[in-house]
This record gives sequence, C-alpha cells and structure tokens, in this order.
Amino acid sequence: MIGIFDSGFGGLTVFKHIAAKLPQYDYIYLGDNARAPYGNRSPETIYQFTVEAVDWLFKQGCELVVLACNTASAEALRKIQQEWLPQYKDPSPHRRGEGEVLRHRRVLGVIRPIAEAAVAVTTGRVGVVGTRATIASHAYERELKKLNPDVTVFETACPLLVPLIEEGWAKKSETKRILRTYLHPLRLKQLDTLILGCTHYPILLNEFVAKMGKQCKVLDPGPIVAASLADYLSRHPEIENKLTKKGNTRFCTTDTSQRFNELGSQFFGKSIQAKRVQIS
Ligand code: DGL
Repeated sequence: MIGIFDSGFGGLTVFKHIAAKLPQYDYIYLGDNARAPYGNRSPETIYQFTVEAVDWLFKQGCELVVLACNTASAEALRKIQQEWLPQYKDPSPHRRGEGEVLRHRRVLGVIRPIAEAAVAVTTGRVGVVGTRATIASHAYERELKKLNPDVTVFETACPLLVPLIEEGWAKKSETKRILRTYLHPLRLKQLDTLILGCTHYPILLNEFVAKMGKQCKVLDPGPIVAASLADYLSRHPEIENKLTKKGNTRFCTTDTSQRFNELGSQFFGKSIQAKRVQIS
C-alpha cells in the first residue's frame, strides 16, 4: 500500500494525478486537518507532526509514503530519511537469510522531483512560491543548486493564499490582487520558470500563468510528482513488488470528515468519503 500524506486537503491536488497515473495500487491518503496549516509552524513542530503521520501510515501497512505536502517535505523529509528511518523498528521486517533484515520502508517527498523538472526546462532563472516555512527552509534553492549550481533562484512566501483558497475565494478579485502583489517582485526578476511550491497553488494555476506572462513556464507539481513516482517504482522492484494492487483508496483525516469530504472533493475533482482517525 502507498501512503500519501499532507497537512490537510492540499495534497489531493497531487494525489489526483498519482491516482490517475498509477490506478493499480492501493492507497491511504492522510490529511492532518486537525493540526493544519503547517505552513506557519516551526521546523521542530512540522518534523514532529510529520513523523507521527508517517509512523501511523507505516502501521496501516504502507511500505512507501509520499509526503505530498511541500512544507513537510521541506522541513521533515531529510531528517526522516537520514535519522528517523534508519532507527525505525519495523514491526514486520522482511528477512532474507540469517538475521539479515531488509529495510524496505521508504519515504519520498515532492521537492526533489519538482526541482529536477525545473532544472530540465530552465534557462537559468527560477522562481519558487510557497508557504512561509517552505521558503524559510530554502529547500527548493538547495535542491536546484545541487542539480545545477548555475541556476539563480528567487523565493517568495505567499502565506495568505492557503486560507483564501480554503475559504473558496480562489476566483475573487481580492485574491487576484493579493496574488499580483506577491508576484510583483518575482515579475521584475525576469524568471523563465516558476515552481508552485505549495499543494494549494495549482488551484490558481491559470492566474499564475496569466500574471507571470508568456516567457515564464509555470510548473504544475501534480503531474511531475506522479511521473516521478512511476519512474521510482519502475527502478525499485524490491519496493514495487510489495505493494498491494487492488486499486482501492482510503481517505483519512484527523479532523471531522464532513468538511474534508466537501472541500476535499473540490481539490480531488471527485466525490470522496473520508474517515476520521487519531494518529497521536
Ligand atoms: N500542504 C501545504 C504545503 O504544500 C500547504 C498547507 C499548509 O500550510 O499546511 O506546503
């Protein structure tokens, strides 16, 4: 089973593309709505919450967890992969021969694949928009520079966009004005590529495209992450072979399911029925 984690509804804009590209797998989508948004929280809190979510998804039987949330990917993924996962006491380890335990649980994020896609298309000037925490972490800048040290990166936090989108204000003139204000400094930088580094921003994709102008490619993260996951699974048969393939999906939220079902269905583009769960 594949676990998809987000702080709330936003990851559904990513999961929508994963489910369409890889419909054969079983999934659990977990939204930590009771503690969302993560975007203004401290790195320590984001790490703590994300670890609890990953642990819960592992206990549900996920061999692989994708952090669809940019904030969680930016602030928690590296530490999870480098420190937490190597210490993880797997309740059902896969054994081969005498005492040899194969570590087969994996956690992936969205920043690396999106940075790779940006580096593949940019001519040198990349913009990144995201939550306050994602931008403060400079995780995108780090990945982009690792892939191509010659890239110049400009980052801007847009903290008002998540609440506006969740209020259903995406199409309102107030939101368009706020977006214009946020993008103004980036427009002066003559970007050729813009990364939408937040799960909610694809809801405003057309607005971003219109405001950035023809010379700037605005990257929609969902299809990029879905293609990258498909590629990862084709390169890692030791993980892929363990995934169950009945095409089932469970939606779970840590807050009431009614609001999740209403707003989540809009983000996912299909009606969904979530179950409330406790993860900590
Ligand atoms: N899912 C978050 C992200 O992609 C946005 C919402 C939040 O701040 O929790 O950064």
